[in-house]
Order: sequence, then structure tokens, then C-alpha cells
Amino acid sequence: MENKLIKKGDKIAIASPIFSPYLEIPRLNDYDLVEVEIMADPDDDWQYPDSELEKLKDPSIKAFFVVNPGNPQARAISNAKIKLIADIVKNDNPELIIITDDVYATFVENFRSIMAEIPSNTICVYSFSKHMGCTGWRLGVVAIYENNRIDEMIRNLPESLKTDLINRYESISLDPENMKFIDRLVADSRSVALNHTAGLSLPQQTQMTLFSLFFMIEDNINYIEGTKKALNKRIHVLYKALDLPLDYDRTATNYYTIIDLLEIAENRYDKSFAKWMEQNYNSVSFVFALADKESVVILPGSGFDAPGWSVRVSLANLRYEAYEEIGKKMLETLDAAYKDYELNQ
Ligand SMILES: Cc1ncc(COP(=O)(O)O)c(C=O)c1O
Repeated sequence: MENKLIKKGDKIAIASPIFSPYLEIPRLNDYDLVEVEIMADPDDDWQYPDSELEKLKDPSIKAFFVVNPGNPQARAISNAKIKLIADIVKNDNPELIIITDDVYATFVENFRSIMAEIPSNTICVYSFSKHMGCTGWRLGVVAIYENNRIDEMIRNLPESLKTDLINRYESISLDPENMKFIDRLVADSRSVALNHTAGLSLPQQTQMTLFSLFFMIEDNINYIEGTKKALNKRIHVLYKALDLPLDYDRTATNYYTIIDLLEIAENRYDKSFAKWMEQNYNSVSFVFALADKESVVILPGSGFDAPGWSVRVSLANLRYEAYEEIGKKMLETLDAAYKDYELNQ
């Protein structure tokens, strides 16, 4: 917005369900963006239907926010769909800016980022917090390809806007007109005037360097494989406890899973109980009851714009035995609702 590429009232597309800040930030009065949802299909391993992705052809959509692999759906976008996104950008909406948050990239075999397919239009976000288990440390990076469309769009702005931008950045550059977008982004993260303090602190950068070097040492491939195995074991234990089938899906990170409570209610009891639940409860009351009575914390899918009766269970932190208990307690909470239902019949 500072560089006049997006303004209040513009349309942005959001690949949903999605990590909730991506839904909440555009609605703030600072931005006032109009959202167009690109909805994933839960019945197709959470891939985006072509008809949804084709919404991106509309040139009035200025940016596309996507988390890949997703949170909460924990699936990578298939290569065929990534190719379709790139084709739409090239042929129909060449000024679309894609912001892809790839923080879960390392959990999927042969992961391919949108950035690899269409680097010119993509801003890539990565954080060490997931793979290195350092969520509180705020260690992340933003990557932009050196020959990118965003710099070109800034170069092509009308003269009057360019003059405004020269005024904005002239205190930190001898050639403000030709400052690259990535450098403007860094400066704007500290209101331009504090550009000299922008970026992460030295201890943070040192830690990030150590993490990066660790990834590059071949022996440590065992760590990457080990985290994948741990997540895989946890999800199997959880699904067994919930008595649910678990299909192998090569796009899954297994870092989170989405569970449909109505589906369990229907399969474990019957349709009329599921209907009664829908009328008398909601997934938020289920999540609160589970936290209140069983001290198990999971999240309602609705906060991520996932289906209303879905819940997200994180597989990131606990020993695998804990997932047996989580599954059992989820079923006990459903049993309690079923007893309530029987009493009311
Ligand atoms: C998609 C996505 N991006 C970013 C983050 C947060 O990363 P960090 O811990 O570096 O703030 C999360 C954490 O939940 C996430 O799911």
C-alpha cells in the first residue's frame, strides 16, 4: 500500500481455509481490502478446484494470499494446481502479486513452492519456527526474486505518485526512485526513518544462520526425516483412537489435522444425533467443553474459515501417547453430548 500498488477498497484473493491473521488483517480499517475467497475442497484432499482458481483471472484482484502447505488443512498444493495458478498469472492477470507463506514446506516430500513456478510475481514468507520448534522466537525471512514484476510496477507508476514515493524514501537513499521493493519493505517495517535499525537483531540473525547451516549439513537429513516420522506416528495414533480411517496423501504435512465432528457423530451414533447436535450445539461449545472438562485444547475450524463443524488438532508438540488420550477425550465429550441428546428425546 505504501508503494501505491494496492489501495483501500481493492480486491484481494485469500486461499481458504487459512491461518486466521490472513483473514483478519485485510479487514482492518488500515487496509479495508475486499476479500474474494478461493475455497479448497475437503473432498479432494483440500486442493483448490480449477473453478475457484479461475477467479484469479479477474484483473481487479490485486493480490493473492496463500499458505502452502496450509494451516489448518496441512496439505501442499499439487504441482498441477500450481501450474494452473502460474498460467492464470501469465495469461490473464500479469500484475497479480502472490504472497505465499511456505512455513510448512519442509514437512512435505518434493515440495514445490509457487515461487519456483512464477518467481516474478511472488513474495515468499518462511519462518524457522515450525521445523525448528522455536515458535516464540520470531525468526523468519521474506524472499523476492531479483527480476520481479513488483519493481516493474513501481517503475511504471504515474509521475505524481512516483514523486510522492521519492519524497518518502529520499532520506535513506541517494537514488530513491530506483530503490528495490524489498529494500522499501525493510525501510517501511521501521517507518522509513528508522531504516538503520530495521531487520532482525544480531542474536536472531546468528540463530537463523545456525539453523540454515544445520539444514545444509547432509547428516542432518536424519532430523528432517525424524520430524516427518514423529508427525506421521502421532496422526496414526490419533486416528486410531478416534476410530477413523487414515488415507495416505503425499501432499499432507501431518502437522495439523482437520476433523469433522458431525461426520463422527453420524458414523458413531446416527444421523438424527448429528442433526440434534447441529441444532443445539456448535463446534465452539465442543471445543470449550473439551478444554473445560478434559484440559485438551484444540481449535474450531470456523476461525480459519474451514467448515463450521470442523476442529483443528495440532500434532506439533506432544508425545505420541498424548494423542491417544486426546482422541479418547474427544470421543468422551461426544458421548456426553449423546447422553444429553438421549435425555431430551
Ligand atoms: C501459516 C503460518 N505463518 C506464520 C506462522 C507464525 O510464524 P512465527 O512463529 O515465525 O511467527 C504460523 C504459525 O502458526 C503459520 O501457521
